[in-house]
Amino acid sequence: MAKLKGDCTDLSLAAAGKKRIEWADNDMPVLRLVRARFTKEKPLKGLRMACCLHVTAETANLMRTLQSGGADAVLCASNPLSTQDDVAAALCKEYGIPTFARKGESTDVFYRHLNSAVDHKPQVTMDDGADLVNVLHGARRRDGANIIASMEETTTGVIRLRAMEAAGALRFPVIAVNDALTKHLFDNRHGTGQSTLDGVIRATDMLLAGAHVIVSGYGWCGRGVASRARGMGALVTVTESDPLKALEAVMDGFDVRPMDEAAAMGHLFITVTGNKHVLRAEHFRRMRDGAIICNSGHFDVEIDIPALRKMSKKVTRNVRNHVDQYVLGNGRRIFLLAEGRLVNLAAAEGHPASVMDMSFATQALATEYARRQNGKLAVGVHKVPASIEEWVARLKLESLGVKIDKLTPDQKKYLASFEEGT
Ligand code: ADE
Repeated sequence: MAKLKGDCTDLSLAAAGKKRIEWADNDMPVLRLVRARFTKEKPLKGLRMACCLHVTAETANLMRTLQSGGADAVLCASNPLSTQDDVAAALCKEYGIPTFARKGESTDVFYRHLNSAVDHKPQVTMDDGADLVNVLHGARRRDGANIIASMEETTTGVIRLRAMEAAGALRFPVIAVNDALTKHLFDNRHGTGQSTLDGVIRATDMLLAGAHVIVSGYGWCGRGVASRARGMGALVTVTESDPLKALEAVMDGFDVRPMDEAAAMGHLFITVTGNKHVLRAEHFRRMRDGAIICNSGHFDVEIDIPALRKMSKKVTRNVRNHVDQYVLGNGRRIFLLAEGRLVNLAAAEGHPASVMDMSFATQALATEYARRQNGKLAVGVHKVPASIEEWVARLKLESLGVKIDKLTPDQKKYLASFEEGT
């Protein structure tokens, strides 16, 4: 098969991209250790892989790691706005990893890129939002027959895969990397918390101290966003539909109320629910003049943008980079950030490398695990083995210079018994 070339915006950006990739690598010590071992042992030798991820400096270091392990891997964008063009260029030109991604690509180009990755005839796929799995169950169903396993990076993707499994529609094994503790406890919470506010601040330059911030959704991402916004001095209201998560938010000290009420109060709205139309016409109508709305959930459906467009008498694109102004019939202005797509990746650089270190070390090791199963993984959604999580956590602690206690033999015995202590 002829080697694919990739498709990126501007190959002359490659040198700048390489510098940013190397800078991110400084903060990815666990992934570096995996890469060093992969280089020696080649556990992925000859494995054909297609990855559909946000094309960032951190992802580039994951791709280098898979390549060092002997994988023959290609990459395409998992979101039309999250691609870092310099990184895509560096992957193609400096690292020889065919990458199909252009920041701001149209829906047609997005799907063309996805199909180019499938043209690579992968045996293992890696998704951030289940797009490759979707295509391999739909238009490219025939190519799904080659798949021995697929890795999934994000909550939204895992929810879809579980729905496919429940409906008996899933055709190959999937490993839910998102569900590993070394992923969602850190990446979803601390990564999304910091990078979302980074995106909002870069896009708007707003002061968070004293602002009323409405955070929709109190999953791991919402928890991170709410706590970071509070840390910056904002008054934070959480909206939820799940009583347990709402109660957790209450006991974490947040104001909790329905969006119907919160809509009139907020200066800044951030959706992180994984659901659709969390902000819709009835809410836009109540918002104050100058309200800022954005999304950090995987898909651009959390804000009902078609409804916003329909009820606006004027829309001005790019009143500032990543900011579109909608003027409603009532004369009030609403500012939509990053077209309702992931604001942390579109307007900033996504999660910092130090947190992606754990997510991507887990991804690389889960891929090695899947390969070692040699086709024996059953069709279904699988967990990352606990031994991988423990290894990643130990090495991350070590890299941070943090030591922890060891259980004494007596303590181990106590934990394994039920006679003592009553
Ligand atoms: N998802 C969130 N932040 C990311 C990053 N920096 N790289 C890849 N995927 C991400």
